[in-house]
Amino acid sequence: MDPVLLNDWHPVALSTQIPAAGEGSPMLAADLLETRVLLWRDSGGVLHAWEDRCPHRGTRLSMGTLHDDTLTCPYHGWSFGKEGRCTRIPALPDAPLKAQVAVYRVQERYGLAWVCLGTPAHAGPPAFPEFADDQLRKVWCGPYDVSSSAPRIVENFLDMAHFAFVHEGILGDRQQTVIPDYTVETFDDAEYGSGVWAKQCYAFQPQASKAATGGSDIEYTYRVVRPLTAILTKHPPGSIREAIALLLQPLTETTTRVWIVMALNDFTSSDDALRAFQDTIFLQDQPILESQHPARLPLTPGAEVSVACDRMSLAYRGYLKQQNLHYGVLR
Ligand code: FES
Ligand code: CO
Repeated sequence: MDPVLLNDWHPVALSTQIPAAGEGSPMLAADLLETRVLLWRDSGGVLHAWEDRCPHRGTRLSMGTLHDDTLTCPYHGWSFGKEGRCTRIPALPDAPLKAQVAVYRVQERYGLAWVCLGTPAHAGPPAFPEFADDQLRKVWCGPYDVSSSAPRIVENFLDMAHFAFVHEGILGDRQQTVIPDYTVETFDDAEYGSGVWAKQCYAFQPQASKAATGGSDIEYTYRVVRPLTAILTKHPPGSIREAIALLLQPLTETTTRVWIVMALNDFTSSDDALRAFQDTIFLQDQPILESQHPARLPLTPGAEVSVACDRMSLAYRGYLKQQNLHYGVLR
């Protein structure tokens, strides 16, 4: 398993999908980095993330029951307490209780549950400073399940030259396909942490946002803040502000669950309308992403042909190399 991703934090569910403890409260199963994860809340409201696998014979514990902060396996009824330690073996009540479920670190941030399967290289999930801004409304989109590697999805998110083709009439226009030059730099600051960013990116949009009625040149800023996290800030003319965080849950090296959290000051569109807009955009990207071969992002120079306006993609590839990421990439 790739240590960079093993030691990073990844979104695995909406916080609201994991209800408070109560009679027969459900447990939630999620997949992360080829590992089955089980999420549950104890009677104090504390969230737990365990390996969803009974140490006895590998059964999914999420198929069992949760009662009084005790999980019981559906197969032979072994029980496990809050720390994942076995507390009861019904078939042999006097047997030594050595079994222990693997327990992971979990945090809730941006309305999502984030899990780190390894030893955290960061204190918590990636920065998304716009989320803390009370002036901005928050909307959760997705999740979208895509048969592609997470790095391919990040690269697509950073790419503007496809707007006129894949999102024609919404994010782009075939009469205005040229991408003006833009600047790519590394950054290291208190707000976003460190990574690479592209600034002063301009693209013409026939419909600049859900609320827009006409086209305009839109300025974008793209930041890669972790190997699988990118934040786009749109600066349309006027007072509309919009930040879109792409938060990826790598399921396997070539399958990914995509979460999008928006922070914006459009208070007129409904949640459903904003979500439907992202759905439309994402469903246009999905077949392109799933057609890309190889599904793993090639980091070898010359494996794919790039031009000047791909410099943010190239900076992202360089960043992954520098981070020594192996998962979902070909080097
Ligand atoms: Fe879980 Fe046997 S597999 S108790
Ligand atoms: Co797109």
